[in-house]
Amino acid sequence: MLTRRRFLAGVAGLATVPLFSARGGSASGAQSRLVEARLVAGPARAQLVPAGYPSTQVWAYDGQVPGPTLRLRQGDRLRVEVHNALAEGTTVHWHGVRVPNAMDGVPHVTQPPIAANGGRFLYEFELRDAGTYWYHPHLGSSGQVGRGLYAPLIVEEHEPPAVDRDVVWMLGDWRLDRQARIVEDFGNFMDASHDGRIGNTVTVNGAIREAFELRAGERIRLRLVNAANARIFSLDFRGHDPVVIALDGHPVEPHRPDGGRVVLGPAMRVDLLLDAAAEPGGSHAVVDDFYSRRSYRLLDLRYARERLRDGGAGSPLPKLAANPLSDPDLARAERHRIEFGGGMMGSMMGMGMMRGMAWTINGRSMPDSGHDHAPILTLAHGRSIVFELVNDTQWHHPIHLHGHVFRVITREGRPTRYREWLDTVLLPPRARAEIAFVADNPGNWMLHCHVLDHQGAGMMALIRVA
Ligand code: C2O
Ligand code: CU
Repeated sequence: MLTRRRFLAGVAGLATVPLFSARGGSASGAQSRLVEARLVAGPARAQLVPAGYPSTQVWAYDGQVPGPTLRLRQGDRLRVEVHNALAEGTTVHWHGVRVPNAMDGVPHVTQPPIAANGGRFLYEFELRDAGTYWYHPHLGSSGQVGRGLYAPLIVEEHEPPAVDRDVVWMLGDWRLDRQARIVEDFGNFMDASHDGRIGNTVTVNGAIREAFELRAGERIRLRLVNAANARIFSLDFRGHDPVVIALDGHPVEPHRPDGGRVVLGPAMRVDLLLDAAAEPGGSHAVVDDFYSRRSYRLLDLRYARERLRDGGAGSPLPKLAANPLSDPDLARAERHRIEFGGGMMGSMMGMGMMRGMAWTINGRSMPDSGHDHAPILTLAHGRSIVFELVNDTQWHHPIHLHGHVFRVITREGRPTRYREWLDTVLLPPRARAEIAFVADNPGNWMLHCHVLDHQGAGMMALIRVA
């Protein structure tokens, strides 16, 4: 980690995108609106590390890391014009949002790349599900996301739970040199064949943070988004008792996280209710201890001297309305086994790795250059599906399916307690999980590891729904 100086900053600083028109809304908000926005992807400078150190040359949406938050209401239609001011092609993928296939931002599959130096593309889709999502490029993802192209997409419920503040912490991970420059070794063999590009600098909303200020008595909805290339977080909110209310955007039975740790693999989101139940004036560390012997303090929860009067801390837990997802019919589901292989100490140590293809799905490796490979499976539109996901490697893989949300029904053969809906499931080494969903969104959809150097080294495949 870069040295942390005493550095006073709250975790504010998440800009909201200028939504330059909103039409057709009714006062009650019940009717859907058309919301238009414009995003520019291009080079920028960002102060990731404390003042006194240099700023960093990054790639960013609208010149900021994270890019502007798109905050909408469930049922809104979003129309975004994306301009590419980068010197290479890009796309935007709306991670976790159930968009029509043509809006999914997968280059060569759903659209041509948005051309370098001035290309543009118009995305338009409806936000059917409330929750915490994000957007990022899907071309050369390791380098593009890893240089800072990512931002939150928040869809508010028709009746949001009562909280005193609704806050996003977008977690980033960077590999910086001593001048705070990004180390340009994206996709190197060492990272790609092991646990991916784990950096040396963790940021919350685009900066190393010393503290997050709160007031005793308040209830915060804390939306955590892991935008790191490869780092997995396991957050211990010392002196606090956060309650998980949604995973990957979707409501889950409110519960205390397992082992008291909030675990997020790359691309995953967790919505917490964080009650500020400690005393005014105090300070409590949030520690990330996912990697043994490499634990560190993410930031401190720092209490103001004044208590918030009539804050929501300690009030009953709200119940979020379910999103309109179709429940799979397990008795009639079509079953498929999908195996993830490769990597160091994996089985694929021969020719494949020589070509840089370290990882496989069902024995096949898909090159990053062209996503346009034949689907490994074709699913009948409307059919209930169970995938048995088998991690045949020594490494963690957060497996993401596009265009759909699935229930995790078993892990290691045992039924899961919450049957949570996810779009990205973290598979520990040698682990397996069964996921179930209705193949209700036609098109060719990516299934891939969200460790971006694993994805870039072949751990992706296409699933066709037709
Ligand atoms: Cu967040 Cu296929 O990506
Ligand atoms: Cu992986």
